[in-house]
Order: sequence, then structure tokens, then C-alpha cells
Amino acid sequence: MARFDGKVVVVTGAASGIGRATAIRIAEEGGQVLASDWDLERVTETAKLITDAGGQARAMKTDVSNYEACGELIAAAVAWGGKLDVLVNVAGVGGFVHTTEETPENFARTLGVNLHGPFNTARHALPHLLETQGNIVNVASIAGLEAHPYAAAYCASKGGVVMLTKALAMEYASRQVRVNAVCPGGIKTPFIKNFKPMEGSDVTLMMRMMSIIGRYGQPSEVSSAIAFLGSDEASFITGEVMRVDGGATL
Ligand SMILES: NC(=O)c1ccc[n+]([C@@H]2O[C@H](COP(=O)([O-])OP(=O)(O)OC[C@H]3O[C@@H](n4cnc5c(N)ncnc54)[C@H](O)[C@@H]3O)[C@@H](O)[C@H]2O)c1
Repeated sequence: MARFDGKVVVVTGAASGIGRATAIRIAEEGGQVLASDWDLERVTETAKLITDAGGQARAMKTDVSNYEACGELIAAAVAWGGKLDVLVNVAGVGGFVHTTEETPENFARTLGVNLHGPFNTARHALPHLLETQGNIVNVASIAGLEAHPYAAAYCASKGGVVMLTKALAMEYASRQVRVNAVCPGGIKTPFIKNFKPMEGSDVTLMMRMMSIIGRYGQPSEVSSAIAFLGSDEASFITGEVMRVDGGATL
């Protein structure tokens, strides 16, 4: 039996990168996946990749920073699958900027997508996860564990995701809902184009974020960790913050 047979799973940020790899991986393992993203065209492609391969998927447009829209997303999953077993929060934004050039609007948007997003979806999902004894996997970042230069909003948002994960894990453990996070290092997705050296940036500070393994990770190397934490194989694991960073934070 595959690990996600009979499981109804919501994946946000599923149009690209880690989210797309996760939606595909979970569907390959039998999951019924509601793939969601801000980018409807590309998340529809993700769902089609899954259904063309014989899996079960639907696509839905959701801006995770919008609380009501997240309610509609969770309701759509429950209407389709009759329940919700796993929520995977992958959607995220970020990039380097000197803090003296950061705008309040971009700071708020970064927090809105990266931190309010996982709260918004979890808030609507938890009543259903309590019924199924399901779980949540959040995608944080090594930027939520250690300081990165030129990324104050991003670090603040991902540090928030780490603590949101632990707080929810503690609150719901005795009611059999697990909450875990993965912290990727540099992963080869379109996201990393926003994290390039800028005028006036200190390359030695930026080098500290590189993996010791000496390459970028692949999205599939993160989705495999997400699939493990989201599956019953991780049934005694909650509040875990798993680094998938090629040794960058050792
Ligand atoms: N790539 C890396 O090196 C890396 C490292 C650490 C953490 N992460 C995290 O992994 C997650 C996925 O990133 P990725 O590398 O796959 O990037 P990506 O750009 O390939 O994918 C991010 C996805 O999030 C979606 N998205 C952005 N804002 C959204 C919103 N408001 N509502 C819904 N969807 C939205 C985008 O449309 C995109 O499909 C992010 O949370 C990111 O912070 C990435």
C-alpha cells in the first residue's frame, strides 16, 4: 500500500519548484491532491501532469495571504475528498534587499504570504485535521534558523514559521494532530533568482549560506522529506524542524 492511499492532501505553492514536486510526489504515492497556487495557469499544469500520469489532482487559485480565500481552499478540499488528512504549506516569496531600501509594503507582503499564509490555511484546516488525526507540514527555511544578510523580512517570516510549527505541534499533540516543518537551504527553483548578489552586498556573508555538499538541492530532495513527515511513517514525530540544506547550517 502506498503511503498516501486514501489521503486527501492540500498543497499550496504547487505551481512551481518544491510545491509542484511535493504535489507530484504525494499523488504518485496515492494521495488525492488539491494543488493550489496564486498562479492558476501553472498550478493547472501541475494538476495535469498528475492526472496524465494516472494520479488524482485538481487545481485551485488561492492567495494564501487572504484568510477568506484559504477558507475556500480548505472547504473545496473537504467537498471534493470528504475530509482533509494533510496540509502542506509551501507558498512563499522572498529576495535580497538592503533594509535601507526595503518598503513597508514589501515587508508586510513577505510576512503576509510566508507567515500569515500558513496560519490562514492551518486555522481553517485544523477542525478537519482533528477529525482525521491528520497533520501539517510547513516549508520554512534555514533563514528561519540563522541570520541571512539582506533578508530581514524573509528571515523574520521564516523564523515565525518555525515557531508557528512548534506552537501548533505543542497545542495539538495530545489530540493526535502532528505539525512539522522542513527548512530547505539553497534549492534549484525559480525562487533563487531573487537571492543574487546586489550592489554593495558582502559576498563573504552570502557564502555562509552555501551547502557544504557543494551544490544546490533539487526540489525532489525537499519533497521526499515533506512526504516522509506527512506520512504515517512519521507518526511519532511532531514539532520537528528538519533541515534539508546539504550541511549549510552545520
Ligand atoms: N528555493 C530555495 O532555495 C528555498 C530555500 C528555502 C526555503 N524555500 C521555500 O520553499 C518554498 C517554495 O519555494 P520554491 O523554491 O519552490 O519557489 P518557487 O518560486 O518555485 O515556488 C513558490 C510558489 O509560491 C507561489 N506563491 C507565491 N506567493 C503566493 C501566494 N500569495 N499565494 C499562493 N501562492 C503563492 C508562487 O506562485 C510559486 O508557484 C517557499 O516558501 C520558499 O520560501 C525555498
